[in-house]
Amino acid sequence: MSGAQDIPVLTLDGPSGAGKGTVSRAIARKLGWHYLDSGAIYRSLAIAVLDRGIALDDVDAVAAVARSMDLAFDAGDPPKVLLDGVDISHRTGTETVGNAASKVAAIGPVRQALLQKQREFRQLPGLVADGRDMGTVVFPEARYKVFLTASAEERARRRYKQLKEKGEDVSLARLTTEIEERDRRDRERTEAPLKMADGACFVDSSDLSIEQVIERCLALVQA
Ligand code: DC
Repeated sequence: MSGAQDIPVLTLDGPSGAGKGTVSRAIARKLGWHYLDSGAIYRSLAIAVLDRGIALDDVDAVAAVARSMDLAFDAGDPPKVLLDGVDISHRTGTETVGNAASKVAAIGPVRQALLQKQREFRQLPGLVADGRDMGTVVFPEARYKVFLTASAEERARRRYKQLKEKGEDVSLARLTTEIEERDRRDRERTEAPLKMADGACFVDSSDLSIEQVIERCLALVQA
């Protein structure tokens, strides 16, 4: 008999802007595996909370939304996130939503409420899971684990370029401060803080191209 525990998982954890999303999607596509963007779950929760006018630090109210929200992912091209049946994909990528997501993600009962939802993504033939606690809490027994990072300056520069290309008016100094603040919150929280999982392969992408990072991760799975 085989169970979910036999389905291979590659976890990619790391701070925001390290390139996890691009790398994870490319690897999932190459391997033909499923993809879990756990950040999108916390981002969707942040949107649900903001839309309802609930304070981001109202523990009980935020946890109640986490338990009751109806979240669905459409893996099409482009992929879609449906919150209570409404497509919110165009709203998940902003800095405001990312920062709000980091705040609601620090709440213990919220993380508990979302644990099972994330584990359900573990389906044959395999899963690439991207987040902060994929290798430590959600899939601690994953076969392959990567911790992907880059310097805060490099991550801010990449994000700056992305936002500028989208025509958004942003300041590099402000982005750097926000990224550092978010990192600190994600690393220092009590519940499932961002840290490298035991046995994870450490990759610093500061001086690597996306293709080089993808190759390293694929080599781990194909070894
Ligand atoms: O990966 P991201 O930037 O989309 O994530 C947004 C926020 O969500 C991040 O700052 C912290 C939180 N998060 C988390 O706590 N645990 C995860 N597994 C993924 C994201």
